[in-house]
Amino acid sequence: MDLESYSTLECIIVVLLIMAPAYLANTIAVLTGGRYPIDQGKLYSDGNRILGDGKTWSGLIGGTIGGITVGYGLASLLVDMSLWGGNIFFVFFLLSFGSLFGDMTASFYKRRQNLQRGDKFPLLDMYDFVFMSLLLCFIFQRDWLLSWILDGWCPLFTILVLTPFLHRGVNIIGYKIGVKNEPW
Ligand code: CTP
Ligand code: MG
Repeated sequence: MDLESYSTLECIIVVLLIMAPAYLANTIAVLTGGRYPIDQGKLYSDGNRILGDGKTWSGLIGGTIGGITVGYGLASLLVDMSLWGGNIFFVFFLLSFGSLFGDMTASFYKRRQNLQRGDKFPLLDMYDFVFMSLLLCFIFQRDWLLSWILDGWCPLFTILVLTPFLHRGVNIIGYKIGVKNEPW
């Protein structure tokens, strides 16, 4: 993957498409989620839930598969996937699963801070999923990740600056149409 030949707008769009499985996994988990809590209702030693009812198997599995599928469909409609390099399905799995795994790690941390399900935690809520997606790619698909993420300022700008707005925007829409309990 080489982003240097693209204009800034094209670069932003391609980066959003690359990251789409990570964004979509979270959104789809809201739709498929709610059944079979991963922590099975168990409490941690501090007396709070380990993860809480907001982290379920139906969300994790549905979101992971949905993120890969919808992400792949979207990207293949718009760009030539053969240019992407790396093992694209594995990459999409890492992004999609990583996103939900990051979200789950954040929930574990939030419960340790006595925050209830759905309570707001501004920076963590906005970046947990991006961070873990990219970390998994860095560990398992490093050459692929490094082949584009440092091509000028555009990739990191798109991921770090535009993502929170996008995330918030999608959550507000989800809240307005009634599929999400909070607008964050
Ligand atoms: N969801 C799920 N399983 C997941 C992730 C999300 O079932 N692995 C669903 C839950 O219904 C959850 C909703 O998506 O309530 C919104 O996700 P999120 O905002 O991450 O969860 P919160 O309810 O805010 O819980 P937490 O405080 O633990 O983040
Ligand atoms: Mg939340």
